Amino acid sequence: MKENHIAFIMDGNGRWAQSRGMSRTRGHAAGVRSLEAIVQWSVDQSVPYLSFYAFSTENWKRPAREIRSIFRLMDTFFRRRIHTLIEKNVRILVSGDWMALPEASRNVAADTMRRTAHCTGTTVNLCINYGGQMELRRACALWAAQCQQTGDFSVPDEEEMRDLLYSGLPDVDLLIRTGGDSRISNFLLYQLAYAELFFLPVAWPDLRPEHVQKVLQQFAGRERRMGGLAPV
Ligand code: IPE
Ligand code: IPE
Ligand code: MG
Repeated sequence: MKENHIAFIMDGNGRWAQSRGMSRTRGHAAGVRSLEAIVQWSVDQSVPYLSFYAFSTENWKRPAREIRSIFRLMDTFFRRRIHTLIEKNVRILVSGDWMALPEASRNVAADTMRRTAHCTGTTVNLCINYGGQMELRRACALWAAQCQQTGDFSVPDEEEMRDLLYSGLPDVDLLIRTGGDSRISNFLLYQLAYAELFFLPVAWPDLRPEHVQKVLQQFAGRERRMGGLAPV
């Protein structure tokens, strides 16, 4: 089965920088360069959907200075790359709780989504102030409100459920986490149900398309039974 949706947990920026005697912010800047390279490569490979974990609902625990620099880097990414994204026919989605973002970030993210909404190539879903648990709690609230309106208190079917989530994208086929840790850290809890998981020891700023290519080769060899039986 060919990969339709690849998700990335972009981890290891801070350690990458600190091991080189640099500030964590420099690590995040290097991380954005990696993000650009991976997006470009995946778009050239015509991967339909990509999700990137950029800032979690738990990352607010970090020092204010680091948080500010992360948002500033994201704003610059959107501003600098908007023309290339449109040229490459890339649709940008931003998933997460927007309301808590700095106003400038909210505006530039909304502008990028609006200006790429017509693009029909790869969809790039950037998860900013995103938490899987928050997404599911929000879905419950939206559904409850809908039920009250319609008087129909049934369980949402798969399609209705997808509409209650931030992006409505199809489930993830493979997840790649860099940075060496083997955990999900509250990412796409619903959509990862049957994803193949790959945990790489390389830091995100060191991730190259060749690493992704190797993962895709391994992915192609995995038997995805999805609860069924292996073909005989
Ligand atoms: C991932 O890199 C980027 C964000 C969470 C924003 P980290 O900043 O978590 O880097 P490490 O894990 O501390 O090395
Ligand atoms: C996961 O990385 C979140 C992002 C990559 C945005 P973290 O560094 O926040 O995850 P933990 O703290 O190691 O679980
Ligand atoms: Mg980390």
